[in-house]
Amino acid sequence: MRLAKFLAHSGAASRRAADGLIAAGRVTVGPDVVTDPARDVDESSGVALDGRPVQPEPREVHLLNKPQGVLSTAKDTHGRRTVVELVASRRRLYPVGRLDADTTGLILLTNDGALAERLTHPRFEVPRTYRATIEPRELSEHSLAALREGVELEDGLSAPARVRGLGGGQIELVLREGRNRQVRRMLEGVGHRVTALERVAFGGLTLGGLECGASRRLTADEIERLTESPG
Ligand code: URA
Repeated sequence: MRLAKFLAHSGAASRRAADGLIAAGRVTVGPDVVTDPARDVDESSGVALDGRPVQPEPREVHLLNKPQGVLSTAKDTHGRRTVVELVASRRRLYPVGRLDADTTGLILLTNDGALAERLTHPRFEVPRTYRATIEPRELSEHSLAALREGVELEDGLSAPARVRGLGGGQIELVLREGRNRQVRRMLEGVGHRVTALERVAFGGLTLGGLECGASRRLTADEIERLTESPG
């Protein structure tokens, strides 16, 4: 396995961070500093980071129902609560993508940095389902069509989305991309403010009655389905 992938699978770093650690000369294989992320290694190669042995660990994926106000980062420099603190695990976990602090709902966390990156890579077009409460409450046919076809955002046109009204000022959107504050920006683009936003599904996974703030570990079958065809 490539050295960078080995580090990501071991939970030592995310896939991107692994390349940086290797380039910085912090990774050794046996007695040698190795700066080539493509070096072929396995469990018997004696890989170490800053002198500490690195071994692949069993993959964990947790599904959390994120409360409002909690950050989707591994660490916060201002001491605010993070999604990682809400999940009981001995492993070093990484959030799979981001939800805004104000957004609630489904977020995955895993110790497999490579999996986290794969699931959020635009190429896989993993569907994400959101429920948004909007102001003004009524969405015109014209706005609905614009949301479905694509809204011009400062970072380009949004990809086609499935959108339906749920009544009571709520709409459901299924996006296959995960740009920063995308739902809020798309709705702003058609003249609506989002007053509440919840992600209810990611890939084939749903919240399934999980209480706000609670988490559960995915089963081996669920992980297999997610990795085989995340979309
Ligand atoms: N879109 C947003 O605007 N915010 C999120 O947290 C997720 C998607």
